[in-house]
Amino acid sequence: MRNDIERILIDEEVIHRRLDTMAGEIEREFPPGPLLVIILLKGALVFAADLLRRVPRVLELECLNVASYHGGTESSGTVDFLDRHFPEVKGRHVLLLDDILDTGRTLDAVKRRLLEEGAAGVHTAVLLSKDKARAAEVNADHVGFQIGDEFVVGYGLDYQGKYRNLPCVGVLKTSAIKG
Ligand code: XMP
Repeated sequence: MRNDIERILIDEEVIHRRLDTMAGEIEREFPPGPLLVIILLKGALVFAADLLRRVPRVLELECLNVASYHGGTESSGTVDFLDRHFPEVKGRHVLLLDDILDTGRTLDAVKRRLLEEGAAGVHTAVLLSKDKARAAEVNADHVGFQIGDEFVVGYGLDYQGKYRNLPCVGVLKTSAIKG
């Protein structure tokens, strides 16, 4: 797996140190009481697992399956909700977690849907944010790292379903990208 990586952008230790800080920020941000966390599958799984174990309060977890990349290295421009059921969010304060803010369409679409479904408020946290103009007017409340506008894998992020278990964030060699 490591042989397919051209460059490591953020190593594991640096990610973990940043998550300590983000968890503290999140803990201070929300009023006391149980918090509903919604994790966007599958990209935010690793980020969520490491971040949420650092937040010392009662959390309830839900996952949402959405797709916007459809396996390639470019956003498709549409956001599909793949689950038959939507979590019950009426009156709840929600923390929405995603792996990366790219065009912004995903976070924007999910945040809107949560508010339509009656969430009392939605805060967002992403591990990575690409430094680029967004298609949708959305910003995350908590950002782990700003990165350049390039395709990255690892720490939950994939290329054609692979590399999610890479413990760091890196850029693939062109030889590892098909076509
Ligand atoms: P948007 O464009 O809606 O994108 O902000 C968010 C979703 O697109 C995926 N994405 C990536 N996946 N490497 C990946 O493996 C990337 O560099 C990348 N950029 C965007 C990701 O699923 C994210 O939730």
